[in-house]
Amino acid sequence: MRRIPACIVTGIILIQLLFAGCGTETGELVAEIYLSRKVDSVLSLMTTEEKLGQMNLLTSDWDVTGPTMRDQYLEDIRAGRCGNIFNAHTVEYNRKLQEVAVEETRLGIPLMFGYDVIHGHRTIFPIPLAEACSWNLELMKRSSELSAKEAAASGLQWTFAPVMDLSRDPRWGRVSEGTGEDPYLGGLIAEARVKGFQGTDLSDPFTLAACVKHFAAYGAPEAGRDYHTVDMSEITFREFYLPPYRRGIEAGAVSVMASFNDLFGVPATASGFLLTDILRREMGFTGFVVSDYSGIEQLQDHGVAADRQHAGELALQAGLDMDMQSVIFAETLARSLEQGKISMGEIDAAVRRILRVKFQLGLFDDPYRYFSEEREAAVVFGEELMDHALVSARESVVLLKNEPAGDRKILPLTAPGSIAVIGPLADNQLDMLGSWHAAGDHTKVVTLLEGIRKRFTSSQIRYEQGCDFYSADRAGFSRALSLARNSDVVILAIGETQAQSGEAASRSIPDIPGIQEELAMELIATGTPVVVMIMAERPLSFPQLDERASAIFYAWHLGTRAGDALADILSGAYNPSGKLVMSIPRNAGQIPVYYNVKSTGRPADPGNKFTSKYLDVPNEPLYPFGFGLSYTDFEYGEIHLEDALIHMSDTLHLSIPVKNTGAYDGHEIVQLYVRDLVGSLTRPVKELKGFQKVFLSAGEQRTLHFTLTADDLKFIGKDLEYITEPGDFKVFVGPDSERLREAGFTLVQNTTGRN
Ligand code: NOJ
Repeated sequence: MRRIPACIVTGIILIQLLFAGCGTETGELVAEIYLSRKVDSVLSLMTTEEKLGQMNLLTSDWDVTGPTMRDQYLEDIRAGRCGNIFNAHTVEYNRKLQEVAVEETRLGIPLMFGYDVIHGHRTIFPIPLAEACSWNLELMKRSSELSAKEAAASGLQWTFAPVMDLSRDPRWGRVSEGTGEDPYLGGLIAEARVKGFQGTDLSDPFTLAACVKHFAAYGAPEAGRDYHTVDMSEITFREFYLPPYRRGIEAGAVSVMASFNDLFGVPATASGFLLTDILRREMGFTGFVVSDYSGIEQLQDHGVAADRQHAGELALQAGLDMDMQSVIFAETLARSLEQGKISMGEIDAAVRRILRVKFQLGLFDDPYRYFSEEREAAVVFGEELMDHALVSARESVVLLKNEPAGDRKILPLTAPGSIAVIGPLADNQLDMLGSWHAAGDHTKVVTLLEGIRKRFTSSQIRYEQGCDFYSADRAGFSRALSLARNSDVVILAIGETQAQSGEAASRSIPDIPGIQEELAMELIATGTPVVVMIMAERPLSFPQLDERASAIFYAWHLGTRAGDALADILSGAYNPSGKLVMSIPRNAGQIPVYYNVKSTGRPADPGNKFTSKYLDVPNEPLYPFGFGLSYTDFEYGEIHLEDALIHMSDTLHLSIPVKNTGAYDGHEIVQLYVRDLVGSLTRPVKELKGFQKVFLSAGEQRTLHFTLTADDLKFIGKDLEYITEPGDFKVFVGPDSERLREAGFTLVQNTTGRN
């Protein structure tokens, strides 16, 4: 490899000495100068072709995450035409590719290896939507940290995560990868995940570079159809969809992925408004932007580029730095440069941003630092990962219903003599991994059946599949029904396969597929108590089943330790605490149904025909945002406001007593919402502004304290800037977005002399 010229190094050392002993900011400035000098020293050696090679990202043939477009990545690396690889992993394989880049190319610039490490790399944690239901930011940070550790040990440096696409549409299969419908919670999770992946120092070889995606508003495709057009007002975009990305970027994410969709009439891949004006100028992002898979090529299908060359120019000039899989930058930008359609300055800016991250990752110090077989063997599927997979799976489960069947509630199970475990997801390893399970190994998955067998050692446990996901074949019903009749309790696992969610897996009617719900109804009709576990990656609607079943869990796809976690919950060894982060619709026609809606001029009134409502179903979802039960009960007292009138510069202090009145110790997620009663623009009926997850022993009461400031009450005004307006507000506290205590306060302008 070429060395950095001695004069540059000496100059930098002198600058460092000059500033030695100054504060951190100066230290950071020096580090920045040092870094950019290093980047420039490499850039100055590069030919145009080598520069375009760094802007090129190609998939290996190890995993298929999009249409295969090129199978000559090895030759491309060797020719210096490809500086980055994705979908390749393991130390052994990636080292071989790195050797080609470092030993066989003119400048020996190391490759950067990326992969979709979305909810674990080999050890798989619950899908992100499920983990979000834990409302436990430390837990999600830890999941990202451990995923990074395992992936980095497997030869990776970069993950295409976190997914920060707010979504209100469960028809869209990729809600599984996100954080649900709330921008505030989404933002906090973005921060936790970016910090978890990147740690405090990217050069730590146990971390990964994060990639906030898909920028922007990819979670709002029309009719929930993946890759479809997105159209919304800029106010809605800025107020609801943008904040989670922003928070991830503020947390220091070094890369961002442009989304497939268009927004405001321009595909994100070619949108200077998104990629430069908002991302770089407004949000101060300094990392690099990568396209999504063949996103540049698709500019032709979007109908904004006449040909490949034109597409490349549009993307580069919008602010896109790296081309995933279109091979358009590498093949056409040199021509565009010759023709004067783009400038070398634009290419250099992109290459600088990419090299900068490679330097930050320490790849120039030692291109092989991520390739140790010993480390890989020690970390992958290690104890800390497997333990965390259990902790996280337990906290992700949401208990929706636990009603008395006979004289007592079914749950938790108290040593049943016999248990019938039924359903196509009950003894199913692959689907527990969920969509985007990276290099997850399904043979390591503990299924529900296995978990129950391990936990309920003194019960007789028998299994029947009953039916599958797709066919109408009822041949298995009779065996399942007879097993149910001859058992004390049925644990029924139904829902979706992992392939029925995720990318390119939109469903027009997101219900429980096939004849599974019929099986459930017939099992319930046997009279044996049935615990329904809905395992899926999106909110499915199941109104009839909901009416009939006494016990229902939303159990998602929980990853490698799924069965252990569920058995812990069934037995009461762990008391469920998850709360929904996306509303569960009654039927597809209600979609989008979400808690932070605007009020209408004719709010629903059952006694008045001419109000905003349906004739066939209530407006409210089957289960609202924030909902989730525990085996114990929590009682909320009245909200106490320290002062019901605050000035703009004040902090509102409020408190509420919460008591565990049931028989079990447990966690409660206490939620705080506000409503701005009169605004210059219409305001949501409720907005989440705070929460606390607390542990209360049986009988324990605690007073919880919350604060609100003017900043919490701001919104995007007519001029598209954040504003806070004085006036009357409501504040609500409760266990979910519907069952709430409320109080009122007034916000007034500061009086003279206050600032
Ligand atoms: C397409 C997906 O939209 C994106 O999220 C993913 O990172 C890439 N494929 C690479 O697999």
